[in-house]
Amino acid sequence: MPKLAALGGTPVVENGIRIKWPEIGPEEREAILATLERGEWCRLWSDECSEASLFEAEWARYHDARFCVAMANGTVALMCAFRALGVWHGNEVIVPAVTFVATADAVGLCGATPVFVDIDPDTYQIDPAAIESAITERTKAICVVHYAGYPADLDRIRELSERTGLPVVEDCAHAHGTEWRGRKVGAHITLGCFSFQQSKSLTAGEGGAVITDSQELADLLWAVHNVGRTRDAARYTHTSLGGNFRMSEWQATVLRSQLARLQEQTERRMRSAQIIAEGLAQIEGLSVLKPDSRITQRGFYFFIIRYESSKWDGVHRDVFLKALQAEGIPCGTAYGWPVYKNPSYASGSVPHKVAGCPNADRITAEEQIAMSNHLLLDTQNARLLVEACAKIRESIEELHRLVQN
Ligand SMILES: Cc1ncc(COP(=O)(O)O)c(C=O)c1O
Repeated sequence: MPKLAALGGTPVVENGIRIKWPEIGPEEREAILATLERGEWCRLWSDECSEASLFEAEWARYHDARFCVAMANGTVALMCAFRALGVWHGNEVIVPAVTFVATADAVGLCGATPVFVDIDPDTYQIDPAAIESAITERTKAICVVHYAGYPADLDRIRELSERTGLPVVEDCAHAHGTEWRGRKVGAHITLGCFSFQQSKSLTAGEGGAVITDSQELADLLWAVHNVGRTRDAARYTHTSLGGNFRMSEWQATVLRSQLARLQEQTERRMRSAQIIAEGLAQIEGLSVLKPDSRITQRGFYFFIIRYESSKWDGVHRDVFLKALQAEGIPCGTAYGWPVYKNPSYASGSVPHKVAGCPNADRITAEEQIAMSNHLLLDTQNARLLVEACAKIRESIEELHRLVQN
């Protein structure tokens, strides 16, 4: 009898792990009804009592940042951030090769050129040395992504920003709750952007925000996200180019209730991550991203497992992945490839530059395994994941049979 579920054996999780996300309760229901009754469903002005303004204050406080501007989603948050920094036609913005396409598309939507640079093989984060090599006289900004909730090396990136004078956008769409040296990521250097889309660890289905310590940038962000109005402008007076990228009162209402849950959920996810890290330390050929004592709290989007095929008799990552999925563990390869391999970029229809990214190419093709952060909400799932990995390791001969299937 084969042991592996992929060959007909009994799976570790019969019918697979079911993930319940988002978590809701009476707080969300009551808050939505209150917004419904109030009848103000759109926040046009800096009204301190609106749900969007209250969320902005709470999100800024959570990050120990001075300002927050709530936005419709994470893509426009990035776009508005780039516009506030003056990114425009003819400029270049340096971005990591491994991220969601929106990081780079937001650059293109400003008429500028994303320049893809490589990632560090141990952390999967943008490589500061690669950023430095890619800087040209056209470079207008650097965008780092705290990929999978693991922070980019903010010490080296801050030093680079100070030395070159280039502003830094932290794309924090994966990193709600992540801390670098005791402070949440986002406003460490210039500004930081968030997404609250359904799959994120803080969500209202859709939503976004930008945080910063700069009054000047906060004012620019306000104008660009509110059709070019200044905060105190008359309704139809527009002083700069902008769009309607505002967050609705519905989104802000849900986010405020969900934010009250975030810290406890982050701690639960971290407990699961610890269980997985300890479990995988006993299994040859599997590991997690490099621990770093400067990371004082980890938020998660993906939970990443590194697969080393040379320690699995050369069996490809995708075969292991098939076996793990068959055991009932939902997992995949995250975005599957570096952004520039998407048809929009690879076909040449979206202008861009690639600064040679061998780590990004190899890691996405052979090494990276990703789980949703929601799996981590239940520590039992973490134990099942470790059990399934250990079972596959014990059945390595059967894995060879799976290769032939
Ligand atoms: C790294 C990253 N940046 C930006 C975004 C864009 O956010 P949104 O989907 O809210 O527009 C996402 C969304 O998944 C993301 O993962």
